[in-house]
Amino acid sequence: MEQKYIPKLGRGVSPIGLGTGGRRTDRSLESIWVEGIVRAFQLGITLIDTAEIYSDGFAEEVVGKAIKVWGGRREDLFIVTKIHPRNLRDRDSIYRSLRGSLSRLGLEYVDSYLIHWLEKDTPLREALRVLEELWKEGLVRSIGVSNFNLSQIEEARSLLSHTDIAVVENRYSLTNRGDEIDVIPYCEKEGILYLAYTPLDKGALSSNQVLKEIGARYGKTPLQIALNWYQKWSTLVPIPRATSKEHVEELAGSMGWKLFTDDIMKIDSEFKPYIIKK
Ligand SMILES: NC(=O)c1ccc[n+]([C@@H]2O[C@H](COP(=O)([O-])OP(=O)(O)OC[C@H]3O[C@@H](n4cnc5c(N)ncnc54)[C@H](OP(=O)(O)O)[C@@H]3O)[C@@H](O)[C@H]2O)c1
Repeated sequence: MEQKYIPKLGRGVSPIGLGTGGRRTDRSLESIWVEGIVRAFQLGITLIDTAEIYSDGFAEEVVGKAIKVWGGRREDLFIVTKIHPRNLRDRDSIYRSLRGSLSRLGLEYVDSYLIHWLEKDTPLREALRVLEELWKEGLVRSIGVSNFNLSQIEEARSLLSHTDIAVVENRYSLTNRGDEIDVIPYCEKEGILYLAYTPLDKGALSSNQVLKEIGARYGKTPLQIALNWYQKWSTLVPIPRATSKEHVEELAGSMGWKLFTDDIMKIDSEFKPYIIKK
């Protein structure tokens, strides 16, 4: 299966991942959602983004069930989960959060553990020290941050002494290109995995006329064209959410081929007005 090598992780990950956020805790969805994630694994989408707060823990449970049903090798997956800032206040709550996530996921370790976002009173130095302990114990294979700007990423890196920030997860899409100004080039230079969240603009990109026209020439849908365009970045992986098997199959159709340079440039110029910092 196609992989993207990430220097800071020393391993490859799938060129697109699958998000699990933004759904209500609706248990009637469980079998459709599990089936969607299993299909993603079968089609080579082996990076999953989840968080302890997604659907009040239900999202992590669903990911855990899908991993069991799929039955493949653990080391082929890259599972990312995130800790809520209120649980970063002391060592005990950090350990409690991670144990809760591991138990819902049915895993012995996660591949990356991210601070979901920073709050004014987050004790960043102390929290990172504890995250580093988790890393030393092998309970988290890497540490990362989400919703951090460049100076916050640099600060977090400066506070670690045994490992480094390996993953940054921020909002980025064709209609939200602010991170191209600084964070994405920085991650590329440093070999850090950049996870782009809300890459489909919550599905809105499916009605974009330029993506439709280009897609018609490739026999691809607008969402597949958008996801393929993101592949121009060497350490960026978009993490769209798709729940049903059918949606997952469409997203997987963005892998395994390349847009021609002229089309990459055309899309670039069409969405240039969105390169602004918000
Ligand atoms: N770190 C953070 O603070 C943060 C914040 C927001 C999001 N995220 C992560 O990023 C992930 C993705 O972001 P997002 O959920 O905000 O938005 P998104 O991925 O841009 O869009 C998701 C929407 O697109 C729909 N969709 C997916 N495949 C489709 C298809 N083939 N045809 C039509 N519609 C399709 C989904 O519907 P269905 O679900 O019904 O398939 C969903 O409504 C989240 O799930 C979460 O894991 C992280």
